[in-house]
Amino acid sequence: MLKPKIEDALNAQLNEEQTAAQEYLAMTAWFEQRNLRGFASFMRAQAEEERQHALKIFDHIFDRSGHVQLKSIAEPASDFDSPRAVFEAAYEREKGNTKSIHALYRLAGENDDYATQAMLQWFITEQVEEERWAEEAVGLLDVAADNRSALLMLDARYGAKAAEEGA
Ligand SMILES: [Fe+2]
Ligand SMILES: [Fe+2]
Repeated sequence: MLKPKIEDALNAQLNEEQTAAQEYLAMTAWFEQRNLRGFASFMRAQAEEERQHALKIFDHIFDRSGHVQLKSIAEPASDFDSPRAVFEAAYEREKGNTKSIHALYRLAGENDDYATQAMLQWFITEQVEEERWAEEAVGLLDVAADNRSALLMLDARYGAKAAEEGA
């Protein structure tokens, strides 16, 4: 049985994951509109991953005989100055996610909810990966700067990455 405090925090994290999915879908649209379809498919894959994260928490709440409370999802930003700005926003989002996962892990510990802590361990490992790709992409787009051929090369590279991970 979940303590109400933990149940609330899990429902809040469920909403965070759904918000992240919505943001990545908005980023997908931004790239699609500019025919940068490699980056678009990479972001689409991220949106799908976040949806899976939300479902993991959804299932955990039910596994523990809790109540899922779906909340409204905030409208995502859809206007970005550059591909780099999109990935910078993704990096900020992932750093925020890491923080909220860590806070939830701490809260579960304080409340002797070891099952929730065990479930969250997967997320803690996942966030290391999530921050890494976002930071790397910002770095690579810095290297590309205003060079359009470099940008197109990176677009192809991220498209291949998405295809690889989807396979
Ligand atoms: Fe996530
Ligand atoms: Fe993520």
